[in-house]
Amino acid sequence: MAPGYGTHVSEIGNPPMRRRGAKGHSAHQGRSVYRCAECGDTSPKWVGRCPGCEQWNTLHEEVIRPAGSVSAPRRAAVPITDVAADDVVPLPTGLEEVDRVLCGGLVPGSVTLIGGEPGVGKSTLLLQMVGGFADRGGRCLYVSAEESAQQVRQRAERLGVLHPSILLAAETSLPELLGQLEEVRPTVAVIDSIQTVADPDLGSAPGSVTQVRECAHRLVEVAKSTGVAVVLVGHVTKEGSLAGPRVLEHVVDTVLSFEGDRHHSMRLLRATKHRYGSTQELGLTAMGERGLETVADPSAMFLADRRLGVPGSVVVPTVEGRRPLLVELQALASVTGAPQPRRSAQGVDSGRIGMLLAVLATHLGISVSNFDVFTLAVGGARVTEPGADLPLALAILSSVHGHPIPPRMVACGEVGLAGELRSVEGMARRLGEAARHGFTAAVVPASTPDVDLPIQVMRVPSLDAAAYLLGLGEIPSSRG
Ligand code: TYD
Ligand code: MG
Repeated sequence: MAPGYGTHVSEIGNPPMRRRGAKGHSAHQGRSVYRCAECGDTSPKWVGRCPGCEQWNTLHEEVIRPAGSVSAPRRAAVPITDVAADDVVPLPTGLEEVDRVLCGGLVPGSVTLIGGEPGVGKSTLLLQMVGGFADRGGRCLYVSAEESAQQVRQRAERLGVLHPSILLAAETSLPELLGQLEEVRPTVAVIDSIQTVADPDLGSAPGSVTQVRECAHRLVEVAKSTGVAVVLVGHVTKEGSLAGPRVLEHVVDTVLSFEGDRHHSMRLLRATKHRYGSTQELGLTAMGERGLETVADPSAMFLADRRLGVPGSVVVPTVEGRRPLLVELQALASVTGAPQPRRSAQGVDSGRIGMLLAVLATHLGISVSNFDVFTLAVGGARVTEPGADLPLALAILSSVHGHPIPPRMVACGEVGLAGELRSVEGMARRLGEAARHGFTAAVVPASTPDVDLPIQVMRVPSLDAAAYLLGLGEIPSSRG
C-alpha cells in the first residue's frame, strides 16, 4: 500500500471547500467538466484522484462550451499522394544551435512551446532569435507579458539586436494580443509567457489551467489560419512539468526544453516533440555577457576545470542526438554514522544510482551503507542515459577505495541488474570524441564493435571485471 494512503482517503471523502463551491457555482452557469492538468482526462464530478493517470489533486473545473452543429466540409478530403510534399519550408532563425534543434528553423503557421525554469534564459534566446529573423528581413512581434517594453529594449541593446522590424507589445489580455497579431501581421510572434496572458471572458486567474489551455488554443487557431509562426514561452515548475497544463504539449507542434544550471554558463536546448523533424538533436550554447553564444568545443568546456588524478572522477563520452560530448562524472563517498546515509544525485539519474549501489552490494560485495554518497555531472550537465552507469559505478568505487581512475581514461556502458555490461549506441562517435581530446584508454562493454581509433579499447563483460581491471575490487569468486 502506498505511504500516506490514509490521508488521501480522507481527501476523497472531503474535497476541498473551494471545489465544492465551484461545483455549486457551475450548476447555474451551464455544464462543466473536471479535467486533469496532467493527462487531460475528464470526470463529470470532482474526484481527488484522476481516473486516467491516478495523480492526486490534478482535476480542475472547466466550463463546456455548447457544441457546434455539423456542417458540410469546406474542403474535400484529398488523397495523400496528391498532397504537395514541399509545403513545409522552415525559416532559419539565424542561431545555429536553434536551427539545429528545429531541423532548419521555425515553420510558418506552426506553434512552438519553449519551456524552462525561470532565469534560464528563455527571453534572451527568443530576443536573439527575433533579432536573427529581423536581420533576414522578417517582421517580428515580441509580446512581453512579463517585462516592460523598456526592459526588453534595454536587453535588445545589450544583445545587439535593436532592429526596427522587431515590434514590441506589453500585453496580457488575449483579445488585445490577437488584435496586435492582426494589425502587425508578423512572420514570427513570440508570446513571453503564455502563463501571464489571459482572456478576461473566462473569469479564471491568469496561469490557471483553463486560461493557459484556452489562450493556447486560440493562438494555435490564429497561427494555422494566418501562417504566422508562434513561439510560446512556458515556465516550468519545480516538479519539471510545464506549469499548470501538460495538456499544452498536445496542442502545439513543437515542444522545446531549455535547460541549464543558473550557476553555470552552459545551456542545452532539446526538442521533446517536433512535428517537422527529428527530436534527436541537441543545441549547446553558453550564456555570456552578450547573451547566448555558440560554443566551439563543448567537451573542452565541460572538462576545463577538471582536476586530474583525484579519486571519484571519471569522464564519460556521452551522446546527445548525433552529438558526442565528454562530461566529467564525480562521486564522493564519505563515511557516516547516520542510520540513514545520504544519497544525492545532481545531473544524473538518482534511480540509476540506487540501482548501481544495489549491484555493487550484491555482485561485488561492496556495501556503502555506512557512506553518504554524492554523485554529480560537472558543469551543469545532465547525463541520464544508460551509458553513464559504468562510469558512475567506477566513480563511486574509486571514491570508496580512495584510488583514482587513470586521468586519460574514459568509461561508458550500461550496467544490468546481474552486473553485466551492455553496449550503448554510438560507441564509435563516443570513442572518437574521447580520442580527439587526448584520452588514451576506454573501458567499455565486451560487445563493443571494433573501432579504428588511436585509443586503447578495454572490453570487459561485467562491472566486477571492470573494477578488478582498475584495482577497485576483487572478483567475488576469489574472495575468501
Ligand atoms: P532571461 O532570458 O530573463 O531568463 P528567462 O526568460 O528564462 O526567465 O535571462 C535570465 C538570466 O540570464 C539573467 O539572470 C541574466 C542572464 N543574462 C546574461 O548572463 N547575459 C545576458 O546577456 C542576458 C541578456 C542575460
Ligand atoms: Mg523571461
